[in-house]
Amino acid sequence: MTVPSPATQSAKRVLLLGASGTIGQATARALVARGHDTVCLVRPQPARTPRHSPEALARNLEGTTIRACDVTDKASLERDGFCGEAFDVIVSCLASRTGEKKDAQRIDYEANLNALELAPTAGVSHMVLLSAICVQKPKLAFQKAKLAFEDALKGSGIDYSIVRPTAFFKSLTGLVKRVKAGKPYLVFADGELTACKPISDDDLANFIADCLENDAYHNAILPIGGPGEAITPRAQGEYMFSLLGQPPNIKQVPPGLLLGIANALSLVAKAYPPLKARAEYARIGHYYATESMLLLDPETAKYSADLTPSTGKETLFEHLETLLKTDRTPDA
Ligand SMILES: NC(=O)c1ccc[n+]([C@@H]2O[C@H](COP(=O)([O-])OP(=O)(O)OC[C@H]3O[C@@H](n4cnc5c(N)ncnc54)[C@H](OP(=O)(O)O)[C@@H]3O)[C@@H](O)[C@H]2O)c1
Repeated sequence: MTVPSPATQSAKRVLLLGASGTIGQATARALVARGHDTVCLVRPQPARTPRHSPEALARNLEGTTIRACDVTDKASLERDGFCGEAFDVIVSCLASRTGEKKDAQRIDYEANLNALELAPTAGVSHMVLLSAICVQKPKLAFQKAKLAFEDALKGSGIDYSIVRPTAFFKSLTGLVKRVKAGKPYLVFADGELTACKPISDDDLANFIADCLENDAYHNAILPIGGPGEAITPRAQGEYMFSLLGQPPNIKQVPPGLLLGIANALSLVAKAYPPLKARAEYARIGHYYATESMLLLDPETAKYSADLTPSTGKETLFEHLETLLKTDRTPDA
């Protein structure tokens, strides 16, 4: 069945997958602010958390049309998501919540593929995919699933914008509570092993929305970080203590500890499979403790802050200051 093409003005008709997630919600706001007619797909009831109640989603996705459908089931996606309507663009902010192999395959690969396969019938000519900069050095199950979908998208004949961001603020603010409570800030090794160019939810969402408007972002892989210099974990800790007017209280943890935990859990998981997800979680932790979220220089095979593009205006240091000096809690 072919549906008629939507009106082609600069405002587009957008189908947003993963709309209830951190970046999905920010992207919905950015698309609405630019006047795009946005349909947000969320999981069918029951709500997983209070944040996912119909009231919370209606508030957080205001200005969009919200539809419940199961993105892992192609028939549901077609019937309850696309609804036989025409769209210009699919934006996918879908991501497995565990990173575990089966979940990653089902969400990061298969659910995205369901949407891609339904795209031509709906008249979609462009798909924007939220991926991750870490797929450039794939070691983890979710990175392999994301790369497999990136490949499918690149070969689909539909215009693609593959957005590969560096670290989000929420991934870097987990220790704020500890520091506020007077506990040491934990770093792996000396805290200088890795660096990233943190990007805020809204800056990333605006970049994603830019992909709809900027032809240079079509058929491109787009690594992207936030504004300013690359920051190490130690620099983040030192900055927080300086804001509190205290000497740095930084405790070093060997990153090998996480690998040891991952290996031990993998062994036990052979007899007790539910532990597989925990083992993968520890492997993910080890990866981020030892790999920078910066672009790899193809010539040196080393991470390069200079080569990592930047966008936006919100800095992690400003965000940390807000979290430390107000009652605001870091996003989970
Ligand atoms: N965290 C970082 O620092 C970082 C850095 C670079 C790139 N990234 C990448 O950014 C992406 C998205 O991040 P995020 O923080 O916005 O993710 P998130 O908050 O976990 O959101 C994931 C989205 O996918 C949906 N989803 C997951 N499993 C589903 C299922 N079984 N059925 C239906 N929907 C499902 C979620 O729905 P529910 O809300 O209903 O669960 C949610 O809408 C990930 O691919 C990640 O790799 C992250």
